[in-house]
Amino acid sequence: MPNPLDRPLARSLILTAALLAAPWRPAAAAAPGRSAAFDANCSMCHQLAAAGVPGQFPRLAGRAGRIAATAAGRRYLEHVVLYGMMGTITVDGTQIVGGVMPSFASLSDQDLADALDYLISLDKSGKLHWKGAVIEPAQIARVRAGKAWSPMQVHQLRATALPKAKP
Ligand code: HEC
Repeated sequence: MPNPLDRPLARSLILTAALLAAPWRPAAAAAPGRSAAFDANCSMCHQLAAAGVPGQFPRLAGRAGRIAATAAGRRYLEHVVLYGMMGTITVDGTQIVGGVMPSFASLSDQDLADALDYLISLDKSGKLHWKGAVIEPAQIARVRAGKAWSPMQVHQLRATALPKAKP
């Protein structure tokens, strides 16, 4: 009996079905204020709406906006996503020991800005209050073009970049 896959029509039908079934992912840049870039790249650790996991992954909802309130805080956020971070931090009164934030330099300037802008617009309970584009893709590009940071150096930067009343 001939293999049905040898027939060109059957093969092209299967290919068409596979293409139609391919997941459709909206371009993050086309949906400002939405969570596409964060959901696809960050939520597996930081959880949906950036709720975090105590002692493991920092809550970012309600915190990123406070960090981004100063220029130093915004520079810090840009460094964290581009170069990652390693070193103990305390969030919500609980230490995160041995946590590693990976580098996301493989993402575009726009995707990184979108992910951070989304976080900056979340209140503590994870509700979105869209604040507009706070992080400029061009600024991400400048940090990217500058000297490379180690994840430990980013941890040191955190000590000076966060507001006095630690978010
Ligand atoms: C593999 C898990 C993981 C993924 C994926 C991840 N993170 Fe993180 N993130 C962490 C951990 C762990 C820390 C804390 C690092 C430490 O303790 O030094 C962190 C820290 C941070 C911080 C600093 C928080 C603070 O209190 O200073 C920000 C901002 C952040 N992540 C944003 C993001 C964004 C945006 C993405 C997606 C582009 C992302 N993270 C993806 C695990 C992750």
